Amino acid sequence: MKTNRMSFVKALLLLFFVLPGTAFASEESVKVDHAPININDNESLQRGARLFINYCLTCHSANYMRYSRLEDIGLTEAEIKDNLLFAADKPGDTMHVSMESKQAKAWFGAPPPDLTVITRSRGADWVYTYLRSFYRDDSRPTGWNNVVFDKVAMPHVLHELQGEMLPVYRNEKDEEGKDRQVIDHLALAKPGKMTPAEYDGAVADLVNYLYWMGEPSHGLRLHIGLIVVFFLAAFAVVAFYLKKEFWKDVH
Ligand code: HEC
Repeated sequence: MKTNRMSFVKALLLLFFVLPGTAFASEESVKVDHAPININDNESLQRGARLFINYCLTCHSANYMRYSRLEDIGLTEAEIKDNLLFAADKPGDTMHVSMESKQAKAWFGAPPPDLTVITRSRGADWVYTYLRSFYRDDSRPTGWNNVVFDKVAMPHVLHELQGEMLPVYRNEKDEEGKDRQVIDHLALAKPGKMTPAEYDGAVADLVNYLYWMGEPSHGLRLHIGLIVVFFLAAFAVVAFYLKKEFWKDVH
């Protein structure tokens, strides 16, 4: 009986601690950089929104996001109308894309997915790394490849900002002991409009915006959560004294 219970406990421990770790480990085959997210930084979010609307909405939609919601990050309705409404008529419209997904699939071989919750499915760190990992590869139809997304169908749409990166290889032994070449890092071959540090900053803004867009009520929820916890704590004190008062005569 005792051993039975022990093995049950072991199985439970395995389930909770070891298994999720292995699943995680298999996903972590590529190293990703940490994305410096700060959804309280409205200026960063606004710069990110501009980049997103200028460079991403031509192919990707954000169908669960309305332009008018950008007022939450400090933009006025007039600013949204004058500077950001290229692909829509009214601030109340969602961020849809004019290209049809069938058409896009025919052009790129893969449909560009909706990006509203991309940082929730891929993780902000992955997206931050992905947008900084494009490199020139003439064997690809678009002329571009990506370190964290091999044979990606998306071209490097930010290359005028980043410039062109080329891979630097190193030798590595595979499981059978044979030498093979793997990408060690990327090196800037042709500078773009931004320095590498400025480009990292721009991508950080963009990913910050994508992260906020995936959960625009994050800040509000946190706020409400704190109020609820505070209310419950205060109410517990009231309940305690109320109980004392009610039971006073019984004891
Ligand atoms: C020219 C069209 C085009 C533009 C512009 C574009 N993308 Fe893409 N994107 C694609 C296509 C096509 C794919 C699908 C790639 C694949 O599956 O191989 C993709 C895939 C992605 C993915 C990976 C999605 C996943 O989980 O598989 C991310 C993230 C992404 N794009 C972000 C962006 C961002 C951010 C911008 C703006 C800076 C942008 N894209 C601009 C065409 C585009």
